[in-house]
Amino acid sequence: MCGIIGYCGHRPAVPLIVEGLRRLEYRGYDSAGVAFVQGRDIEIIKAEGKLGQLDKKLEGRDIMNATSGMGHTRWATHGLPVERNAHPHLDSTGRLALVHNGIFENYQEVKDDLLTKGYTFHSETDTEVLVNLISEGLKQTGDVLKGLSWALRQAEGSYAIVLVDRENPGVLHAARKSSPLVLGIGQGENFLASDVPAFLPYTRDVVFLDDGDLVRLDASTWQVLRYDDLTPLEKKVHHITWDVQAAQKGGYKHFMIKEIFEQPKVITDCLAGRIDTAAGTARLPEIEDLPVPKRLRIVACGTSFHAGLWGMYLLEKWARIPVQVEIASEFRYRDLILDSDDVVLAISQSGETADTLAGIKVAKDLGASILGLCNVVGSSVARESDHVIYTQAGPEMSVASTKAMCSQLVALTLLALVWGRKKGVLSPEAQASAVRELADLPALLDDALPAMRDEAKRLCRLYSEAKSFLYLGRGPCFPLALEGALKLKEISYIHAEGYASGEMKHGPIALIDPKFPTFALALADELFPKVKSNLQEVQARGGPIIALTQPGVDLTVDHRWVLPTASGPMSTFLALPALQLFAYEMADYLGKDVDQPRNLAKSVTVE
Ligand code: M6R
Repeated sequence: MCGIIGYCGHRPAVPLIVEGLRRLEYRGYDSAGVAFVQGRDIEIIKAEGKLGQLDKKLEGRDIMNATSGMGHTRWATHGLPVERNAHPHLDSTGRLALVHNGIFENYQEVKDDLLTKGYTFHSETDTEVLVNLISEGLKQTGDVLKGLSWALRQAEGSYAIVLVDRENPGVLHAARKSSPLVLGIGQGENFLASDVPAFLPYTRDVVFLDDGDLVRLDASTWQVLRYDDLTPLEKKVHHITWDVQAAQKGGYKHFMIKEIFEQPKVITDCLAGRIDTAAGTARLPEIEDLPVPKRLRIVACGTSFHAGLWGMYLLEKWARIPVQVEIASEFRYRDLILDSDDVVLAISQSGETADTLAGIKVAKDLGASILGLCNVVGSSVARESDHVIYTQAGPEMSVASTKAMCSQLVALTLLALVWGRKKGVLSPEAQASAVRELADLPALLDDALPAMRDEAKRLCRLYSEAKSFLYLGRGPCFPLALEGALKLKEISYIHAEGYASGEMKHGPIALIDPKFPTFALALADELFPKVKSNLQEVQARGGPIIALTQPGVDLTVDHRWVLPTASGPMSTFLALPALQLFAYEMADYLGKDVDQPRNLAKSVTVE
């Protein structure tokens, strides 16, 4: 997830673009850059780090003349967060510059072909490949618009792009597919941006671009065309009434709820370039050449630990690898028995969690190899790991982790599929059906989320007086029970405890009474009969029950919260947002500071 902005008008473009980037910084912040035409050349100024670094580089530069240009604030997906990988990127001829938000999936194949045609590359990014592909399109068609359309017909993946042409500095071209891009329409000036806040001080009239739209704009005109055959399209202009803060949250009240609703897109992004539905296979290029581990230790904290625990069930089932999952703050101080046959999978959204980093160090010293599973590209965990898989979830702003866990679960599913295939223990049919189900998940979840939110709202109002909750689950639903309880306590400050259903009778059952609600995961899986009898034990003691369940499940409890049907592990991707939504709605109803709960930090960099 990056932020992009383009401007054509009558004001000095560069300061306006930088100001717009500042309002998009919540979308990514590892490097930033601007491009504009100065004399006969495209001038590109970029800097590693937050926008302040770009400000410093712009000081004293001659930037006030250009009245059009574009900018980018980056959240790395391909290539480290360093200056050479920052956008904008120039094509080999120096005529075109591009900013891009998204993932160009077949970039390696295209790059190999362009190299044979004499194109040269100076970064590790997919974006530099895309601008050169557009350059090749320009060469073949003799026209920027047609060349862009030619290139986009070959580009697989997602993109929101803006293109500057040295030969026509007052005109910008742009396009979108599966990454956001909006057009802002002003008086004698027009804007493009990933999100409305970028240009909100200048205009509130916007066109929300759709997938497959290609745009040509100058200071006084704009046109939207179909990307493939350049047919002109009619577009509705909307008038926005949000303020900047609301706009950054996409109109949602908090980042947390925005991020919960982003999960269908997060699943798509995490799967990008990693599944082939026609062939029924999953691939993780980052680890394809590595041997399958004999034993796996998963090390993580908090929500990432819960993701790891969930992954254990799948890795054991599909890849037949013995897995141990460890809380990093315990692991680091144990008298560990590890050697070079051990692989440690370190899971961390931020990649900066001190205990996880210390766990990596201990494991490395004992000779184990480290595989990182991180969201933040170039983070410490990524750098300390021998190999790294990125979850590609985009920046997570809310302290309570939601979409990051979803992406970790997708990546763990892929890992189980890949290792199961490589070991030959997972049948091609089982792989193909899992790949199909993964591909169907985003649409299924997207449809389900609004009704799930309504149900969460209704239920939390019935239980807002509760002082404590018990979350119960078995098998892969046990880590979900832990996560549901963690979410509720961290943002609503209601005490909650996650427990393995079968373990309840060994102690917590003493707590059950009519004022002590149980939140149960009673999904349609092979362990359901066991879960059902655990819930009967709760009912026998007068404890009220909310049960997350699925159609056809025979269960009578106080509140049946019925999720859509999904098979096996895919049900998790529906149950997880239900737990998140319940915690969110409860915290919001109780008036808590949802995005920044007391005593917590987004990344825990101290022991
Ligand atoms: O960045 P990490 O994944 O390493 O963070 C680990 C935990 O600190 C984190 O998941 C924490 O538990 C969240 N606040 C949970 O919502």
